[in-house]
Amino acid sequence: MKALILVGGEGTRLRPLTYERPKPMLPIAAVPFVERTLRRLHDVGCEEVVLSACYRSEAFDRLTEHTAPRVRIVVEEEPLGTGGAIRYATEAAGGFDGTFFVLNGDVLTDVDLAMVLERHRDTGAEATIVLTPVEDPSRFGVVPTDPAGRVIRFIEKPPRDEAPTNMINAGTYVCEQAMLEGIPAGVCSVERDVFPRMAESGVLYGCPGESYWLDFGTLPTYLQANIDCLEGRLHEPLPGIRRSVGGGHVWMDETAQLAADVDVVGNVVMSSGSVVESGARIGPSGVLGPKSHIGTGAVVSETVLLDAAVVERDARVHRAIVGDRGCVCAGRRLPADSVVPPDQSI
Ligand code: GTP
Repeated sequence: MKALILVGGEGTRLRPLTYERPKPMLPIAAVPFVERTLRRLHDVGCEEVVLSACYRSEAFDRLTEHTAPRVRIVVEEEPLGTGGAIRYATEAAGGFDGTFFVLNGDVLTDVDLAMVLERHRDTGAEATIVLTPVEDPSRFGVVPTDPAGRVIRFIEKPPRDEAPTNMINAGTYVCEQAMLEGIPAGVCSVERDVFPRMAESGVLYGCPGESYWLDFGTLPTYLQANIDCLEGRLHEPLPGIRRSVGGGHVWMDETAQLAADVDVVGNVVMSSGSVVESGARIGPSGVLGPKSHIGTGAVVSETVLLDAAVVERDARVHRAIVGDRGCVCAGRRLPADSVVPPDQSI
């Protein structure tokens, strides 16, 4: 079975983090989002995954070394939108037969893909959309269904008081080849053009995911996705070797260095080459990216440090993201919800 992941968007809402890397390559609890997704697709029997890329497509190149599943990258010269990208990438990859998955590259979920596939086969749908409930559906595609699960209408981003249900498009689809024939060549949106038309024809079904779900496409939700992963809200393991330290737990790469007297609270992940120096306090919920560094006496909680980010001695950081090679200078107290842009010192 094949799958396609849409990874071509610019991720404008996640700037400045996405100036350098595309959103799907940002790590969630130290594992790039796309790699998490490849693992899930492999678990459900996918042998080949096509990445439909555009913005900063070179960032995905190293994934072609993957063998289980095999990874192919198809790059659009100009963004074709979510629908145009599905048509273009499936054709450029030599065609998709039968049933396949399509996943958005910015939705963190542990939805049971095997369950969705089974439901899809039971109904004989041309496509099945995973649905998830949200408090405010106005930022999403709202998907009312009949008792059999058939999608009655597909309404992209309705005003809050006009949404007929709070079940929204969760960005995970099971599709049949027949759906591809209904996508016009060129630029088109699966949410605005393809799904509304399929709903009218009665060939589109919805399947409640009943699982963890978060669109990590904004700075606050990106941080939340990391915290949720660390807190065990997804059924996914953390990377590294688990060590209990004081009252907390650290998942450490074997090359990470943690000084003996560091106070660890809750759950923390330390990637390759990361260092926490003596007298620091980390956690709850800290992610140290590769080669990141926390200095003596620093206090860091609910924070993500990306590659080679630094929190210098005695600095205090709570609920923040420090971009690649960013630095919180010695003794600084960062206001909550701060983002240190890549290569900048604050
Ligand atoms: P924002 O600019 O912050 O809205 O993010 P985005 O455009 O990256 O994401 P959006 O939520 O609009 O897109 C949903 C998914 O589709 C993401 O995984 C994007 O990477 C992907 N995507 C969006 N537009 C395109 C496109 O034109 N081509 C391809 N290949 N993928 C796309």
